[in-house]
Amino acid sequence: MKEPHLSALKCPECGKKLKFDRDILLDENIETGQIVCERGHSWSIIDSIPSLVYPPISEKDAKWIKEYDEMAESYDEQIKYYDEWLDIDMMREREQFLMFLPIEGPSRIIDVSIGTAANFVALHSHFKNQMGRFNLHGMDLSTGMLKVAKRKIRELGIDICLTHGSVFNIPYQSNFFDIVLHTGGINTFSDIHGALSEMLRIVRASGVVIVVDEGLSPRMKNTEKGKEIIKTNSLFAARPPLEFLPEKARNVEVSYVMNDTFYQMVFTK
Ligand SMILES: C[S@@+](CC[C@H](N)C(=O)[O-])C[C@H]1O[C@@H](n2cnc3c(N)ncnc32)[C@H](O)[C@@H]1O
Ligand SMILES: [Zn+2]
Repeated sequence: MKEPHLSALKCPECGKKLKFDRDILLDENIETGQIVCERGHSWSIIDSIPSLVYPPISEKDAKWIKEYDEMAESYDEQIKYYDEWLDIDMMREREQFLMFLPIEGPSRIIDVSIGTAANFVALHSHFKNQMGRFNLHGMDLSTGMLKVAKRKIRELGIDICLTHGSVFNIPYQSNFFDIVLHTGGINTFSDIHGALSEMLRIVRASGVVIVVDEGLSPRMKNTEKGKEIIKTNSLFAARPPLEFLPEKARNVEVSYVMNDTFYQMVFTK
């Protein structure tokens, strides 16, 4: 990890700024080491990824994360079955979030719960060699998923700052991002309000938060296909979690993507 990545972060325990525990050269990549805050809280960097998980994860979340760690290597293959079953092209549909990008100029974007970095792979397949204008960050609680994301990013030759952290206490500065993206986790999070509040905290004023997860549209729910989908996987019965939106969320819009099988909730500060 390099200095610009560090300056976007904050100590997850006290919120203060972080620094490397030794002098580093400009543009030096720190693969292993420690970062500390001014109150002395110390955090590890492992394989260039800072680990900023605080407080320690609950037993319930740990169970989920163990599953994600175990499935990380086969995750991309596993979710391909959605394409045929739901009659969608998920990698293409992931490009939906591009419509919220400013047409030109720099953009700071974070994928919260980045998983295997599929959303940024979609961004890359659209922008190819114009990726330079994006300052990309990805955070996840599963080190297994982060490892796969890191490998895919390296293969594509793109630069993404990866952080090990939890959505319930995102170790990033407030008001930092133009776009906060989250796909695929919120339905099963143990504290949905907490997660959405953290996403809103790190987006800048009039920046946009985009949350996408399984949940059939009302129209799809009433079709034979919709009933079969819910019977097979009850996650698809989920509704957009509007009741858990933080009070400060503005301009809330709900639509349906992926052939009416996923909700997309968009809001601003
Ligand atoms: C279904 S996967 C979705 C991955 C990716 N966003 C995608 O669209 O393919 C859910 C992701 O949420 C992550 N996750 C689960 N609990 C989390 C938490 N408390 N904080 C951050 N990420 C979490 C998992 O590790 C996993 O990578
Ligand atoms: Zn601290």
